[in-house]
Amino acid sequence: MLRPLIVGNWKMNNTIHQSVELVMKLREFVKTERDTDIIIAPPFTALHHVGFLIADTPIRLAAQNMHHEKTGAFTGDLSGEMLKDVGCEYVILGHSERRKCHCETDETVNRKLKAAIRDELKPIVCVGESLEQREAGDAIRTIKAQVKGSLKGLGPGMVKNMAIAYEPVWAIGTGKTASPTEAEEIHNTIRELLFELFGRNATENIRIIYGGSVTPENIDSLMAQANIDGVLVGGASLKADSFARIISFKESI
Ligand code: 13P
Repeated sequence: MLRPLIVGNWKMNNTIHQSVELVMKLREFVKTERDTDIIIAPPFTALHHVGFLIADTPIRLAAQNMHHEKTGAFTGDLSGEMLKDVGCEYVILGHSERRKCHCETDETVNRKLKAAIRDELKPIVCVGESLEQREAGDAIRTIKAQVKGSLKGLGPGMVKNMAIAYEPVWAIGTGKTASPTEAEEIHNTIRELLFELFGRNATENIRIIYGGSVTPENIDSLMAQANIDGVLVGGASLKADSFARIISFKESI
């Protein structure tokens, strides 16, 4: 099994004050190093404060998005260098909410991914099918196209720090989780595709994580799947006790 990767995506939630409150509680649960990578992605405005408060813990910081250019006239955007400057080690790219609300395509995600690699951020690339695509029996084809499009032009030497997040759109914020076997089928497909695209050596350590209504109740059965190497958690990462239960999944397997 790969070292698990658990990411809390706070999305557009929490002021600086609320972020500090949440992270102070989280600190109590994550005092010492574990054999799991624990990442939180607060909103941009809270990155600095949160980064300061987790500096002496094993928790690491992620941004929820970035621009692909290094600098310039891009009002409202942030570069990889700026994110590193504020303490981010990871960046989430191509989340379905950005694909939907900000018209991000595989091409956009591909540009950002190359920029993240250039700027030495660890990218977490999100893919996921809609309900219509799943019901039409098109889930696997959709996911393969998204992975291929988002990773286009990369070489085997470029992908080692990347993670892929499979987040079926119909499972995000709906309380409907993909069953462990449904998720496992897609994760396995992504794993095989990565082998095919970049070779086994370059990709066998890439973590493929699941997102979409992950809760303290379903974490253990998800993490028991062979190809689920972690989770990307939305709602349940906004409460310290539920996120703490999620990152402690192993203790109860
Ligand atoms: P929920 O866990 O709230 O369904 O959100 C999942 C998600 O989009 C994480 O990036």
